[in-house]
Amino acid sequence: MKPFYITTPIYYVNDKPHIGHAYASLACDVMARFKRLSGEEAFFLTGTDEHGQKIEKSAEKAGMSPQAFCDMNAALFKDLTKAMNFSNNDFIRTTEERHKKGAQHFWKVIEKHIYLDKYAGWYAVRDEAYYQEDELKKLQPGENGAPAWAKDLEKGDTERARAGQIKLFAPATGAEVEWVEEESYFFKLSEFTKPLLEFYEKNPSFVQPESRFNEVKRFVETGLKDLSISRTTFKWGIPVPGDEKHVIYVWLDALVNYITAIGYPNMDNQWPADVHVIGKDILRFHAVFWPAFLMAANLPLPKKIVATGWWTNEGQKISKSLGNVIDPLKLIEEFGLDQTRYFLMREIPFGNDGNFSRDRMITVINSELANTIGNLCQRTLGFINKNCGGILPNGSLNSETSHITNPYHKLGFGSTYPIYSEVVNKCKFDFAIEIAWGLANRANQYIDEQAPWTLKKTDPQKMEEVLYILTESIRQIGILLQPFIPQSAAKILVAVGYPEAQANKGIPFSELSTPIKPGTPLPAPTPVFPRFQETAK
Ligand code: MSP
Repeated sequence: MKPFYITTPIYYVNDKPHIGHAYASLACDVMARFKRLSGEEAFFLTGTDEHGQKIEKSAEKAGMSPQAFCDMNAALFKDLTKAMNFSNNDFIRTTEERHKKGAQHFWKVIEKHIYLDKYAGWYAVRDEAYYQEDELKKLQPGENGAPAWAKDLEKGDTERARAGQIKLFAPATGAEVEWVEEESYFFKLSEFTKPLLEFYEKNPSFVQPESRFNEVKRFVETGLKDLSISRTTFKWGIPVPGDEKHVIYVWLDALVNYITAIGYPNMDNQWPADVHVIGKDILRFHAVFWPAFLMAANLPLPKKIVATGWWTNEGQKISKSLGNVIDPLKLIEEFGLDQTRYFLMREIPFGNDGNFSRDRMITVINSELANTIGNLCQRTLGFINKNCGGILPNGSLNSETSHITNPYHKLGFGSTYPIYSEVVNKCKFDFAIEIAWGLANRANQYIDEQAPWTLKKTDPQKMEEVLYILTESIRQIGILLQPFIPQSAAKILVAVGYPEAQANKGIPFSELSTPIKPGTPLPAPTPVFPRFQETAK
């Protein structure tokens, strides 16, 4: 059977990884883990984008050869996959032989849609993108960055910019553009305007969120221009087969990673991808250029493109020049791995822009993880350990208490999973966490209401029932949280009696509907989520 195939963008190695990179990959990891625990096979691909002028320039600045520079930084991205506990099945680097061969083969396959001409226009090295003149704004001499008050172009501005007197930039990304005039191969993108619009029409959920899909459609509806797909003014790229003074345009090179990683031209059975997770800034490349390239190569198109929003840092745009880049390794070091994973998935509805705030992160860690989930485990399981000899007492689920273990109890027993699964499949990760966290919140209210410490004296049988329900609730929470916080969820599951090896491998969601057995031995609990305490600097 075809596995569920999910990909991250491949990351430029001009610098070390930051929160934006960790974020898209984390979403893919959650989805891949979710699929596997649902009984499906999942193939999760990530990697690095290593060619192009931007990398060549960065290597030069670092005084290194491009390859050595790429090796150094690609290693950091690989390390990040380990540090974030990503379950990727492969990691592709575009400087690998398997990729270069595949990319050149792809070029030959689409060759009948390619012609040689001359490109004269604007190019942003930072975005590795071509821009039309009417997309540009200007800065006055002495100004930097891409302020909101940037001005429209006036007569004579493009000449002035070409003479270096003023700077032009692409307002969408803030990247500065430069004038490029060179021989170039072009892809007949214009031929694909109609086929693409027809495809969008037939596949109304091709791009998510929907608002972004509308942007894509509007762009294509204006009519596509042919796309320059080779460069001659620098060397760091994959040579165009048969004309080695050209290197393949880095975006064509990068996009084909999704197929070269799985063996193109002799692909395994993963293609087409089920989901390409990308950032909103690179939607045009994925929802317009990539499908057109695939159509030209007669290959099936990916099923879905999901665009993430962008993180700001304490309300400010994240940028190297502002010095406010968030290093995911630092977050892990300070707050813990699963705390970081939880916060990133919990804080903003996936697809929206969101703000990173240190105070919010501490609040979420302390209130949701430490006080709600951690405390529930500690109070319940600590109590059982102390008062019931570490053996789960007698009890069963019944209609009176089903709302504790199942927030959707009104829909019937076992109805948590269908809803949870629906929201994860729609990438509503914050909602999925809310379901699990909601269970913990409810269970904490229940323990306070029932006060097992009092029942111990007044009604020991009721106390046993209460403890049983609470433990089952913890088991449900542990199972549901596995894709998000795999290590901590495994700890929770060990605490409710699963053997360590089994818990570490993952407890399938099918086990949600088999309640825990009374009499299960429960080990003495160890705290899962310590409270975060600010240390004096
Ligand atoms: N190499 C291309 C992608 C090629 S995919 C065939 C690229 N690389 S990138 O390293 O610049 O960006 C990778 C991803 O990080 C993009 O999806 C981008 O949206 C994302 N992010 C960069 N900054 C971000 C934030 N501040 N917040 C969230 N994601 C952001 O583009």
